[in-house]
Amino acid sequence: MKPIQVGLLGAGTVGSGTFKVLLRNQEEIKRRAGRGIEITMVADLDAARAREVAGEGVKVVGDAREVIANPDIDIVIELIGGYGIAKQLVLEAIAAGKHVVTANKALLAVHGTEIFAAAHAKGVMVAFEAAVAGGIPIIKALREGLTANSIQWIAGIINGTTNFILSEMRDKGLDFATVLKEAQRLGYAEADPTFDIEGVDAAHKATIMSAIAFGIPVQFDKAHIEGITKLAAQDIKYAEQLGYRIKLLGITKRTAQGVELRVHPALVPSKRLLANVEGAMNAVVVHGDAVGTTLYYGKGAGSEPTASAVIADLVDITRLHTADAAHRVPHLAFHPDAMSDLRVLPMAEVVTSYYLRLRVADEAGVLAKVTGLLANAGISIDAVLQREADEVGGEGSTQTDLIILTHDAREGTVDDALAELQALPTVLQPIVRIRKEELK
Ligand code: HSE
Repeated sequence: MKPIQVGLLGAGTVGSGTFKVLLRNQEEIKRRAGRGIEITMVADLDAARAREVAGEGVKVVGDAREVIANPDIDIVIELIGGYGIAKQLVLEAIAAGKHVVTANKALLAVHGTEIFAAAHAKGVMVAFEAAVAGGIPIIKALREGLTANSIQWIAGIINGTTNFILSEMRDKGLDFATVLKEAQRLGYAEADPTFDIEGVDAAHKATIMSAIAFGIPVQFDKAHIEGITKLAAQDIKYAEQLGYRIKLLGITKRTAQGVELRVHPALVPSKRLLANVEGAMNAVVVHGDAVGTTLYYGKGAGSEPTASAVIADLVDITRLHTADAAHRVPHLAFHPDAMSDLRVLPMAEVVTSYYLRLRVADEAGVLAKVTGLLANAGISIDAVLQREADEVGGEGSTQTDLIILTHDAREGTVDDALAELQALPTVLQPIVRIRKEELK
């Protein structure tokens, strides 16, 4: 059978890796897919870059629409990124009857409903393994490997940049701004790192996983998002003293009231495998009712790791594209007419536990006042750590840090209690609140 023909839009790092891996492993990939897979056309505004990536025999064009218009192309790989032109091109490729492979998490998290509906109507596949956690086959695991399960929760380190920064902050005791600069110098963080450090990239990925896990539409606008920019080195140190590490987690959880969907820094017990995922690595824990807890670990970014996921999608499509569209794996794991209307919960309804740090006046009765107020609110304390004033503010200091770990409480209740605590004259600085996830 003649090879399936692929057109590539965007000849950057991942595109280059895709060419390399396809070429290096072409014989094995062909034996697995049942026929050859060839990228025969590449579109990039930078023709010289595209020519270098593509090598001999591949047609290079500046206009992506030439690829989409080519009747010989069966699959279009979109590696442009963003919501702008990439969205137009993906929809045009679908309209032209092409299958699409994309690594574009932002596009799917925000416009996935429209894109999957268009693909469903046209009978083509949109594959996106590379969009979540790079080389880790987490989409495959959630959508197929765990298909017997009622998935209960997912918690993942799904942004390598922030995990690298947090690892460095902990290892070296440095503050966020210093480590960010170093991460940029080393190429771990982009010149504009906003999406990574503010948690947006992780929220895109969590949104996609949530939809697949619970059979709900992608709802990025309902995700609660907090990044790592406000994390202080001292909280990382205190957490460590209490037996925890701070990680930026993407969490989605099924509850009786609805689905939690949130990205924020969280204390994770140091003994959990997830707490020991260091540097730019990614890891996702999935808890299913039948299988229990499973863990997926690997590189969440980079040329060949991401290409590994892109090519897995190419192989899947090659195997399935002659199959009856109704019997393929549904885009979001559940058939479009069998989606759930479970609501995504507002953050105030989320129940979790908390790390609180209060800078207080080192006076008689302060601890009693603080704990009394929490008790009145029905918030149960798990542990308290009070540093010596001298250690916190230098010799003769009259201030100290009070660190409190709570048991599970409703976020809205904690918000109200913190507002009351903050108003106490003996609470001297804004209270630090970091959520705590035991991941049991
Ligand atoms: N910028 C992401 C990260 C990789 O740091 O993990 C692409 O989503």
